[in-house]
Amino acid sequence: MMVALKLLPLATFTLSLADNIAPLEPVNQLPIGPQLQISHPAATRPNIIFVLTDDQDLHMQSLNYMHHVQRHLIDQGTSFSRHFCTTALCCPSRVTLWTGKAAHNTNVTNVNPPYGGYPKFLSQGFNNNYLPIWLQEAGYNTYYTGKLFNAHSVNNYNSPHAAGWTSSDFLLDPFTYWYMNSTYQRNRDPPVSYEGRHSVEVLTEKALGLLDEAVESGNPFFLGVAPVAPHANIWAPGFVDGNHTDIRDVIFGVPVPEEKHSKLFNDAKVPRTENFNPNQPSGASWIRKLPKQSQENVEYNDHFYRQRLRALQSVDDLVDGLVKRLERHGILENTYIIYTTDNGYHIGQHRLQPAKQCSFEEDINIPMIIRGPGVPKNAVTDIVTTHTDFAPTLLKIAGAPLRDDFDGLAIPLTSYGLEQATKSRHEHVTVEHWGFASNEGTLFEGWQRLYWNNTYKALRVISSSYDLHYQVWCNNDHELYDLKTDPGQMRNLLDQEETTSTKLLGVPLERVVARLDSLLFVLKSCKAGTCTRPWEALHPAGSVETLKEALSPRFDVFYAEKRQNIVFDRCEMGFILDAEGPQFVDKHERAVVDINWHHFE
Ligand SMILES: *[C@@H]1O[C@H](CO)[C@@H](O)[C@H](O)[C@H]1NC(C)=O
Ligand SMILES: *[C@@H]1O[C@H](CO)[C@@H](O)[C@H](O)[C@H]1NC(C)=O
Ligand SMILES: *[C@@H]1O[C@H](CO)[C@@H](O)[C@H](O)[C@H]1NC(C)=O
Ligand SMILES: *[C@@H]1O[C@H](CO)[C@@H](O)[C@H](O)[C@H]1NC(C)=O
Repeated sequence: MMVALKLLPLATFTLSLADNIAPLEPVNQLPIGPQLQISHPAATRPNIIFVLTDDQDLHMQSLNYMHHVQRHLIDQGTSFSRHFCTTALCCPSRVTLWTGKAAHNTNVTNVNPPYGGYPKFLSQGFNNNYLPIWLQEAGYNTYYTGKLFNAHSVNNYNSPHAAGWTSSDFLLDPFTYWYMNSTYQRNRDPPVSYEGRHSVEVLTEKALGLLDEAVESGNPFFLGVAPVAPHANIWAPGFVDGNHTDIRDVIFGVPVPEEKHSKLFNDAKVPRTENFNPNQPSGASWIRKLPKQSQENVEYNDHFYRQRLRALQSVDDLVDGLVKRLERHGILENTYIIYTTDNGYHIGQHRLQPAKQCSFEEDINIPMIIRGPGVPKNAVTDIVTTHTDFAPTLLKIAGAPLRDDFDGLAIPLTSYGLEQATKSRHEHVTVEHWGFASNEGTLFEGWQRLYWNNTYKALRVISSSYDLHYQVWCNNDHELYDLKTDPGQMRNLLDQEETTSTKLLGVPLERVVARLDSLLFVLKSCKAGTCTRPWEALHPAGSVETLKEALSPRFDVFYAEKRQNIVFDRCEMGFILDAEGPQFVDKHERAVVDINWHHFE
């Protein structure tokens, strides 16, 4: 349900640096590098701690079980109830986070080579051109511990080292998801095994150490902390060289909590929402063919769920530790703490086994909370934000110039900014995925580990008067859900015999689909500003900024005649351009639309 932003009384409202700052000095005059010392003004620039969990859900209520996150972050900050990842898979999502680009603009689209993983991040040239480097250029010291990317392994961590970090301590494959036998690798040192210790407990120690180091440096700092929880436990020797197609070596198991948390929440179960293991199949493509889960399977999945909640207790302790340490250093009030995850998770919804990689709300609408100077406390906002927005947000906090190739928009961090955004921020989210989908629990009879052809483009469009999910799969299956009346995404409006007589938003369904098709057509290959202002590409006169405006009958002829359908030629495992039908090309296309536009107007 929609929750209004709870505004603070004006008296307690302070403008944050992020919204009114001019760069302290022309950034290109700053020396570059971790040894940089800026004397006075930098000391007052805010610090940033970014906590990035792995596969944490919003929709199965995981945050309700995190008491310290509630106390330190939700009560002291703003929760973004409509925050979305743009690809529901670890590595593409993390590369989007640290580059500010959607996956179709990074072409890091999977977890392992050739389509993803650390080697693909390197070969795409991002190791010289991503967030920590830009933050260092702005005079920040940068620290990171935990999982950076998939296929960042004990074999390739030093060829070359991930660039841009003042100090780092990375979790490495193939030990990333092995809770009780993790391997971390600090700065230029060789990897060290922590066999017998809990990965998140080790990470907490490292994060606090890096925090002390950061404070000692005297510079403003960014600290990324990326625990493995609540990801499934995986022992996967075959992952070392990023060979995901051979799954024989991969052993999936339930997440593993610390001993002291292992008996908690004995009665917790996956919420039994309408879409939980339903009697009728739902979704499209391979999802529609899934069998109903057996009782034994459901019980195992409830256990899997409890193990996630228990493993998250270590993350909750980590957050408590970080906040207390900031307080001890006297810098809590000058530090932004951002809490989010790479992608969401489903267990049992639409009959799906524990996993991600789909575009249902469970997988894409994820926890995101920010506390910090000027950020409204105990507030919930429903403005639409995505993972493409963090790179610009963090550079803005740092007072650094934004880059003109960012696909997202800085997230407002003040009452005033948030209020403005409710009127002017875009209402859409683009979601994309390529390749397989994987099950992460025990395989019950009749189930398979991998599903192929999980390549799709999806769109969420959300305002106070509508809430839609539209999707086109690589086999050209189509889905459309009206989440206002169908929050569980159980009734595909395009899966009916008689779609012609159906009305949506007061007009024939077909007319809504025509707009959504054109919008998704622009977004699937958008770059930079077009990704946040896609309607401008269709209506260059600037008269249309929302679906509602595009639905005006004035444009019926335009959309009927000029509509661009999304068509896939075939399913591919990665972003193979010629498999994805015609592409929107900004300059050229704009000219064409312009001419048509005048004709129709
Ligand atoms: C834990 O990982 C190390 C390598 O870092 C390996 O030598 C050891 O056998 C593993 N422990 C178990 C129980 O397999
Ligand atoms: C990946 O697995 C396949 C099938 O087992 C094997 O033929 C291939 O050599 C493996 N590649 C790497 C890089 O390990
Ligand atoms: C995946 O899609 C391709 C066409 O792109 C098709 O040939 C193949 O049969 C599909 N595989 C499955 C498992 O549906
Ligand atoms: C993305 O990367 C894959 C794997 O290297 C490559 O085959 C493909 O052509 C690339 N796609 C684009 C659009 O550059």
